[in-house]
Amino acid sequence: MTLPTPIILDCDPGHDDAMAILLAAANPAVELLGITTVSGNGSLEKVTYNALRMCAVANIVVPIAKGANDPLAGKASAAPTIHGATALDGAELPEPTFEISQLSAVELIAKLVSECDRKVTLIPTGPLTNIAMFLQAHPELHDRIEHISFMGGSTERGNWTPYAEFNIWADPEAADIVMRSGLPLIMSGLNITHQALATPEILDRISALDTKLARTVVDLLQFFATTYREVFGMPDPPVHDPVALAIVIDASVARLVSAPVAIELHGELTRGATAVDLYGTTGQAANVDVAMELDVEKFWNMMIDALKVLGKE
Ligand code: BDR
Ligand code: CA
Repeated sequence: MTLPTPIILDCDPGHDDAMAILLAAANPAVELLGITTVSGNGSLEKVTYNALRMCAVANIVVPIAKGANDPLAGKASAAPTIHGATALDGAELPEPTFEISQLSAVELIAKLVSECDRKVTLIPTGPLTNIAMFLQAHPELHDRIEHISFMGGSTERGNWTPYAEFNIWADPEAADIVMRSGLPLIMSGLNITHQALATPEILDRISALDTKLARTVVDLLQFFATTYREVFGMPDPPVHDPVALAIVIDASVARLVSAPVAIELHGELTRGATAVDLYGTTGQAANVDVAMELDVEKFWNMMIDALKVLGKE
């Protein structure tokens, strides 16, 4: 029997991060060792509270630790136009049922990685600040990391500026450290996550589960749909973050290509852009497996199975 892949989810919930938490806790191919939070979609306080509330709604109990308040350079911003004032608007969520860890995110990641009997995969779905800090603080643990599968960037254009995707834009220096780490990296950028759309048919399938959790998820995704329509004119919202995890659960959910990826740190109009060299024009060595196409049916089956498992009342 294959043992589940041990994972740590580093996130900034956020509607799609919330979906990643549910998938991480429910899918038997992975073992969720812990959750760490980073300021991104909302302040560190808000996103940590949201992680705790998502755990409460789905009866998940794992260590949760707070990470970085601000990016490596500059000050944090948030994304209330997309995720609302709480960073997770749209549903009634219960109060937390347990306390967060006394450790910082970097300390918790280091502890979980050192204690695990197998290599651990990190799944960052927010700005890469905590992951960069962990890599810098713990070079001795690099060989204990199996993969870093992150949501961020794009092979195409951005969503927060014309060229930058939000997570990379929010902390380009951290993203640069991760891209140069030499560790096995998997990038799920907008080019693939925009295929993971929560269409009305998907919402109907979730509603049909007819559990409290399913109703909460539909409320959240309906809020997300409204802001995506208003801000981006997209008819259905892309559920970005669980894509980075789905690939770890089942690699056949996406087609990956190896390519050199670099982060633009200085461009006046392009800071935070991911320069993905799909045609080998830079002559640089490939450092990232870049996710290109999603098996949409497989992805949503995985997500809905997770809701079934966690929604049992
Ligand atoms: C990313 O930005 C956040 O708003 C989402 O949670 C996702 O991680 C998409 O650009
Ligand atoms: Ca996120």
